[in-house]
Amino acid sequence: KDVVKIGVAGLGTVGAGTVKLLSEHRDLLTDRSGRQIVVTAVSARDRTRDRGFSTEGLTWYDDARDLTADKDIDILVELIGGSDGIAYDTCKAALENGKHVVTANKALIALKGAELARIADANDVTIAYEAAVAGGIPVIKALREGLAGNEISRVTGILNGTCNYILTTMREQGRDFADVLAEAQKLGYAEADPTFDVDGIDAAHKLAILASLAFGVEVDFDAVAVEGIRSVSALDIQLAEELGYRIKLLGIAKQTAEGIEQRVSPVMVDRATQISKVEGVFNAVALEGDYVGPVILQGRGAGERPTASAVVADIVDIAAGRAAPVFGLPADRLKKNVRASLDKHVGA
Ligand code: NDP
Ligand code: HSE
Repeated sequence: KDVVKIGVAGLGTVGAGTVKLLSEHRDLLTDRSGRQIVVTAVSARDRTRDRGFSTEGLTWYDDARDLTADKDIDILVELIGGSDGIAYDTCKAALENGKHVVTANKALIALKGAELARIADANDVTIAYEAAVAGGIPVIKALREGLAGNEISRVTGILNGTCNYILTTMREQGRDFADVLAEAQKLGYAEADPTFDVDGIDAAHKLAILASLAFGVEVDFDAVAVEGIRSVSALDIQLAEELGYRIKLLGIAKQTAEGIEQRVSPVMVDRATQISKVEGVFNAVALEGDYVGPVILQGRGAGERPTASAVVADIVDIAAGRAAPVFGLPADRLKKNVRASLDKHVGA
């Protein structure tokens, strides 16, 4: 078939960006995938809202779940958010109906990823989620495909654009936490519930996903020790600076003799290191492989265009027939995660 039909559930920051990119780069994407990629149906709550593109000619569903029964759709793109309710129901039903799913939903993949991967495998489709971790940085493909020949020992990352934007702006402009958070929300960086960002939960979702790919284990969000940035004051940031450090919210997952250790917490990072210089909405992921050695990827971790870039990369892969196993290997071969014991209250 020359045409791949797309249904998009959720037309907010990422959904609107995705539809715009698919339209603006239509010819390029046809060249790259060998097929014409066409959005045929969409779903959001408010039909009257201006999305920055025309919805004329598209089938509109008030309930995203109805997209899953649309026989005309080959790929369902879920950009609503949340680990249960409408997003979970829609993705699960789409996979069960033999549709590929593309999502940016890290909460869903972190909490329901193992189950959805089994459903995808059973139905000979995939659920792809490049946009779920580190926005526009192609870290999922890097780990799953690019570093497939390596044993990975460690993953370290600045994984939340909102927190990095807050910490950077507080330091550079001496501004107040709440004021900068409100700005990050306006820019479309923050989660619908921004406590997920500032309390480290969003970064923990992403870390759990990376750990699954890196170590071949089922995603285990509950194993992540989490501390966010609420307790980091302007004075902490200034004192760290004077001592030659920068405060970053870091996610670290590593193999230990005991098991896998996963933690998200504010860390004083030496200002001489590359990761300390990753500022604003940028994210970075440092990977350590036994053959390749250290690899660092960095780029914009949130926002309309970078995230749409990652969503569309997954759509192109699927359209081109390159649907990958969800976590790099068949779901029934993922090992149970063995946790290293870890103090749940990790200090800065
Ligand atoms: P938004 O809040 O901007 O958009 C959410 C969209 O979902 C809206 O269009 C909303 O409709 C729609 N929606 C909500 N409930 C329903 C429902 N019951 N049925 C149909 N549509 C519904 O979120 P984002 O675009 O920021 O985020 C979307 C996903 O992408 C989330 O999983 C998020 O974690 C993830 N993500 C976001 C990034 C970012 O930078 N923003 C980056 C990486 C991932 P309406 O517009 O009518 O209210
Ligand atoms: N709220 C998330 C962040 C969006 O700020 O990083 C990207 O996943």
